Amino acid sequence: MKIKQSGIIGLGAYVPKKIVTNFDLEKIMDTSDEWIKTRTGIEERRFVEKGEATSDLAVEAAKRALKCANVSIEEIDMIIVATCTPDYQIPSTACVVQKKIGAINAAAMDLGAACSGFIYGLTVAKGLVGIGTYKKVMVIGAEVLSSILDMSDRNTAVLFGDGAAAAIVSEVEEGFGLLSTHLGADGDLKETLGIKSGGSLHGTTAATLEGKEHFLRMKGQEVFKFAVKALPTATLEALKLANLKSEDIDLIVPHQASRRIIEAASKKIEVPMEKFFLNLSKVGNTSAASIGIALDEALEKKLIKKGDIIAITGFGGGLTFGSIIMKWCY
Ligand code: ACO
Repeated sequence: MKIKQSGIIGLGAYVPKKIVTNFDLEKIMDTSDEWIKTRTGIEERRFVEKGEATSDLAVEAAKRALKCANVSIEEIDMIIVATCTPDYQIPSTACVVQKKIGAINAAAMDLGAACSGFIYGLTVAKGLVGIGTYKKVMVIGAEVLSSILDMSDRNTAVLFGDGAAAAIVSEVEEGFGLLSTHLGADGDLKETLGIKSGGSLHGTTAATLEGKEHFLRMKGQEVFKFAVKALPTATLEALKLANLKSEDIDLIVPHQASRRIIEAASKKIEVPMEKFFLNLSKVGNTSAASIGIALDEALEKKLIKKGDIIAITGFGGGLTFGSIIMKWCY
C-alpha cells in the first residue's frame, strides 16, 4: 500500500478577549511582573469569561481553519481535540465541537498528551490520512487552563492562559506536508505535573475539594530539567527522520512555556533564537493550543511561505514530548 503524503492545508486560532496582565496578578497573589517576566518571558495571558468553555474556543479556531483551508464542514471525517481541560469527563470535547459546528460526517475523539497534544494529534492525523482511513482530519488543541488554576498558588497560576488552535490535515503534493514526526513519553515523571483528584483513583470528595486537589500542581524545576533535554532530543530525532539538519530549518515554533527553556534548546540544537517564533509574552502557556496559536500568528505575520521547512516541538504533562518537521504546503 502506498502511504499518502499528508499535511496542514489550513490553520486557525482563537484566544478569548479578556487580557490578564502580570500587574493584574500582582494584585491577587504574592508575585511581581519582574519575577514572571525574567523567569518565563510572559507579560500577559487571556482568560475566558465565566460560561465560556474549551469547546467554544475550539469552535472559533475550527471555523477559521476551515475558511483558511477552503474546506466545508461536511468534508471533515474526523475531529481530534487535544486538551487537558475538557468541557466534561464525558462526553468528549470533540463530540461537543462536532455538534456545535455541525460536522455531521465526522467521528470525534479527545486526545490527552497535555502540552504535547497538538503534536500528538497531528501525528495521529498523519497516520489516518496516510493509510487512507480518512481524507480530512481536523486537529484541535484547545484549553481553558484558567479552570484548573489555583489563583493562590503562584508556582503555577502565573504561567498559563486559555486559547485554541485548529489545523485541517489532508493529502498534499508529494514532498510537502508532515515530513517526519517523533513522539516520546516518560511516565516515571508523572508526579511532576498534574491534578491529584477527580479521576478514577481519587474521586472528588468534600475532603479533596477542601484540600484544593482539583487544581493543577507542578514541580517547576523538574519540568524545566526535563524540557531542556526533551525539546532538543525531539527536534533532532525528527530532523534525522526527515533526512534534514538543524541548518535546514527556516522557522521553529516551540511550545510557548518559557523563554529560558527555548533559549536552552536553541543552544543545544544550534538553531539561532532568530529562527524561533515566540508569542508567549502575550498569551502565556496555553498547553495543547500553544504551538498552533503561535504557528497561526507566524503565518499571519508572513514569516512562513510555501516550501519552508518548519519544525514544531513541545513537551508537557505525562511527561510527554514530540516534534514534527514540515515542508509548508501553502
Ligand atoms: N512570583 C514570585 N516568586 C515566585 C513565584 C511567582 N510567581 N513562583 C515561585 N516563586 C518563588 C519560589 O517560591 C522560590 O522562593 P524561595 O526561594 O523563597 O523558596 C523562588 O521564587 C524561586 O523558585 P524556583 O522554583 O527556584 O524558580 P525557578 O527559577 O525554577 O523558576 C519556573 C520557576 C518559572 C516555574 C521554572 O522552574 C520553569 O520554567 N519550569 C518549567 C515550567 C513549565 O514549563 N511548565 C509547563 C509544563 S507544560 C504542561 O503540560 C502544562
